[in-house]
Amino acid sequence: MKYQADLRYDLIQINKPILGSEERRAVLEVLKTERLTDASPEGGPKVREFEESLENYLGSKHVVALNSGTAALYASLLALDVKKGDEVLLPSFTFVATANAVLMTGASPIFVDVSKTDFTLDIKDLRAKVGRRTKVVVPVHLYGYPSRMHEISEICRNRGIAIIEDAAQSLGATYKGRQTGSIGNLGCLSFYGSKIITCGEGGAVVTNDDALAGRIRVMRTQGVVGEKGSRLFGFNMRMPEISAAIGVAQMGKLTTFLAGRRRNATTLRSLISDIHGISLPHEDKDRLGNWYVFTITVSSKRDQIAEFLNKKGIRATVYYKVPVHRSEFYSSMGYQKVQLPKTDWAAQHALSLPVHPSVTPNQLESIASHVEKAVSDLNLKAQS
Ligand SMILES: Cc1ncc(COP(=O)(O)O)c(C=O)c1O
Repeated sequence: MKYQADLRYDLIQINKPILGSEERRAVLEVLKTERLTDASPEGGPKVREFEESLENYLGSKHVVALNSGTAALYASLLALDVKKGDEVLLPSFTFVATANAVLMTGASPIFVDVSKTDFTLDIKDLRAKVGRRTKVVVPVHLYGYPSRMHEISEICRNRGIAIIEDAAQSLGATYKGRQTGSIGNLGCLSFYGSKIITCGEGGAVVTNDDALAGRIRVMRTQGVVGEKGSRLFGFNMRMPEISAAIGVAQMGKLTTFLAGRRRNATTLRSLISDIHGISLPHEDKDRLGNWYVFTITVSSKRDQIAEFLNKKGIRATVYYKVPVHRSEFYSSMGYQKVQLPKTDWAAQHALSLPVHPSVTPNQLESIASHVEKAVSDLNLKAQS
């Protein structure tokens, strides 16, 4: 999910970084030290501080900070020795990075359908697609909403299949009280500009496994340890110290950010709950989302509604209009033939609305009234 920098400040953007004096001070402090990066597997002091802060927050033994969420996915797959001949099961209804990381290892992505209620892996289809060559399942907590981790773990446990959570969008979302990203064998976070907290660019791998964490620490710096040269395959996935320092400052605000998102989501839900022709995001007591976005489904004319809202300065956004298996590149490999009916439905009906902490109560009123106007002007039918 990509944040679109927009110079029209009157727009209600879909997501927006919140940066203040804490981040500015943190950057200047690193500049003063002149220590901008560190090529040891342990990383520099700011990287370590950022990792420790995430370890404490997530309740996980290890966090390894990297330079993107995509690198986190790739490093996780490499650490599990995923390679050509292996199959990795994942949704097609996700940001393409999830699938690209699999392709980079030489393994085959196998696309699994998603639930129409919450857009996470469809358990029945997952069960049907697990096979002899399945090495990893990658649940994506899309829109910051947790996947059904209990059912997924049950499917994987006795078959020796590892789980890598794609928690790029879900920092702070919980499954039965546990932080998403900390539940699978490995979890991947992103700190891209649109995310819950940001470093500009950045990512991290979360794990309780000492050996996997150790491998990824070495991999992030070309596989080199000390003076012995390269111990294993790796490349440059290091997070710069300035990015980590911004991350530390952002971590200090995470709880406030999440509370703001939840408050806005609750308000928006109550403002639009009576509009017919739309369905509101799912939430149950075991799975609490972080409100990365507020994704509704629209019975028809979704694109016209999005266009109407955009014209009114509300950056309602369609994530993802083209599911990965139907994209030009993946189609060229034959993936468009895979039948994923619920994914196709989601790609045609889902519409994300902004609820990030900078959205004001007046703006929420404006979003709600414009959704209502769009729906009544376009004469939407109730959803079946
Ligand atoms: C679901 C998902 N997976 C992976 C990524 C990749 O993260 P990054 O952009 O930090 O490489 C993103 C974010 O952009 C994402 O939304």
